[in-house]
Amino acid sequence: MNNIQSIINKLHATHKSCKEGHPATYIPELAKANPDHFGIVITMKNGDVYSAGDVDVEFSMQSTSKPFSYGMILQEMGRVFVMSKVGVEPTGEAFNSIVELEKNTHRPYNPMINSGAIAISSFISSEEDMKKFFSQFAGKDLRIDQTVFESEKNTAHRNRSIAHLLRHFGVIEGNIENSLDLYFKQCSFMVTTKDLSRMAATLASGGREVLKEEFVGDVLSLMFTCGMYDTSGKWAYSVGIPAKSGVSGAIFGVVPGEMGIAVYSPSINDHGHSIRGLKVFQDLSRELNLSIFRK
Ligand code: DON
Repeated sequence: MNNIQSIINKLHATHKSCKEGHPATYIPELAKANPDHFGIVITMKNGDVYSAGDVDVEFSMQSTSKPFSYGMILQEMGRVFVMSKVGVEPTGEAFNSIVELEKNTHRPYNPMINSGAIAISSFISSEEDMKKFFSQFAGKDLRIDQTVFESEKNTAHRNRSIAHLLRHFGVIEGNIENSLDLYFKQCSFMVTTKDLSRMAATLASGGREVLKEEFVGDVLSLMFTCGMYDTSGKWAYSVGIPAKSGVSGAIFGVVPGEMGIAVYSPSINDHGHSIRGLKVFQDLSRELNLSIFRK
C-alpha cells in the first residue's frame, strides 16, 4: 500500500481512541456534533487523494473560512487598502479577543482573529460573490447552512461588540449587521473533510487562478503566524506548516507546492482547536517530514 495511505490509516486508528475535549457549546448548533466523527484527507498537487475515516461528513467551516475571505478581499481591493484596515501581526491572544482593538492603531492585528475577519467581511460585496469564490476553491458548489447561521447570529454578543468597536474606530463603515451576517455566513459554509483538503490543495498549488499566485503567499504567511491564534508559536515548532483551525473541529494545513491536508473531529480544546486534529498534524509532520524548518 502507498506510504501516505498507510500512515493516515495508522494515525486514524491510533487517535480514534482519544476522547479528550468536547464539541464547541457557545454556538448551540455546534454542540450537536457527533464527537466520534473523525476524518483525515490529503489531496496532492497532482489531484491524488488519500483518506481515512468519516471524510464525507459535512461540518461548518467556522474560522477555516478566514484565509479564503482574506484572499478574496486582497485580490479585489489590493494590499494597500487591506493593510490600512487590518494588520499582519500575531497577537498571542485568543481568537475572540477584544483587547488589542483598544491598543495603538485601533486596527485589528490580523485577519485570522475575529476582529480582523469581521473587518474583512465588511468589504465583501455580496453573499453571491463570496459563495462563488469559496465554491471555486472547493471545486464544487458550497452551501450556507441556515440553521448554523441563525444559531451563531442569535448568540453572537461578543462578535457584535467587536463589530461595534470596529465601527466606532472607523475600520468598518455602514450597518454592522450586514458585515456580521456575511461573517456568520462564511462561518456557515458546509464542507466535508475531502472538500476542505481540496481547498487547501488549491492554496498549495498557487491558487489555481481562483486566487492569483501573488496573493497566495500573503494568505499562507498569515495562516502560518496567526492561523492557530495563541498557539501559533507552538504549532510552528511542532508542525511547521501554514494552517487554520475552526471551532467546528476542522484544521487544514498547506504544504506549498505539494499538498493540502484536512482533519475533522469535533472535540476541541480551550484554544478552539480539534484535539484529534492537533495530534494527527503533529504525527503527520514528523512521519512525512513536512515542517519547513526541519528539511
Ligand atoms: O466567531 C466565531 O465565534 C465563530 N464563528 C468562528 C470561531 C472559530 O472557528 C475559532 N477557531 N477555532
